[in-house]
Amino acid sequence: MPLDAAVKVVGGSASLPLARALARELGVGAVDVSFERHPGGFPDGERYVRLLGPVAGEHVVLVQSTHPDPAIVEFLLLADAVRDLGARRITAVIPYFGYGRQDKRFLDGEAVSARTLAKHIALNADEILTMAVHNPDLLGTFPVPAREVSGMPALARYIQGADVDLVLAPDANAVRHAKEVAGIAGKPYDHLDKERLDSYTVRVKPKALDVRGRSVAIVDDVISTGGTIATAAKELRAQGARRVVALCVHGLFVGNAEEKLRACNEVVATDTVPSAHTKVSVAPEFAAAIRALA
Ligand code: R5P
Repeated sequence: MPLDAAVKVVGGSASLPLARALARELGVGAVDVSFERHPGGFPDGERYVRLLGPVAGEHVVLVQSTHPDPAIVEFLLLADAVRDLGARRITAVIPYFGYGRQDKRFLDGEAVSARTLAKHIALNADEILTMAVHNPDLLGTFPVPAREVSGMPALARYIQGADVDLVLAPDANAVRHAKEVAGIAGKPYDHLDKERLDSYTVRVKPKALDVRGRSVAIVDDVISTGGTIATAAKELRAQGARRVVALCVHGLFVGNAEEKLRACNEVVATDTVPSAHTKVSVAPEFAAAIRALA
């Protein structure tokens, strides 16, 4: 469907740079949002949103990652306000969908958090676009149409023509990502196998790689504590790699991730979660998906 004039982008505070880039990419307007009623916000830290332009009759593209947790509340407030103010259609763009890893009941009595989030995110949305979800099965749990947009082309753009000889998946889960990045960038790829000992500790299974004197880009969907990438980077160094670049779609960098990532020469993340390592935008990928909406 060609985009009609009545498309407006609304960005939550967790995703403002990407929302602005997306509006530019689509060539449509953005509706500004005020996030503070009083300077400094509510004293108790509750979120506040106020749309500063009309959305009645519009197709609203609402952009907000669900990280950190207050961003979830803000998304719910925005979606409800946009609907209540008369939007004709709401496309929820959730660049980073948090809670995706708790996608089943691992222990008796646990909440299936990914499903809980999916249900509530969909309350006022006509469709969902998200990116690099932990498990693509999540898409089937949304009560409205949901699609995963790949962020890998953005990472591939970054390494195309750059000093990278090999693309490496740090574990079996990331092979589909490494394969896609390598295919687009025109580089070979390989993978390691990882064992997770607990939320903070991982181990790489022994495997000889052809990396001596080469520059390697490790690709993952998300860097959280940095344990996965740091372990892979150390293995590459031990096997004689000359340079190690870490590429991820979602850069969370929790705890002492920055310290661990010193094992890499460079760390590159997209703008799904803004950080000091955000070097590429996935706006072109989301724009193409929005243009292709039925
Ligand atoms: C795991 O399956 C994911 O693809 C990532 O490898 C993992 O979540 C990264 O987490 P961390 O940075 O804490 O090792």
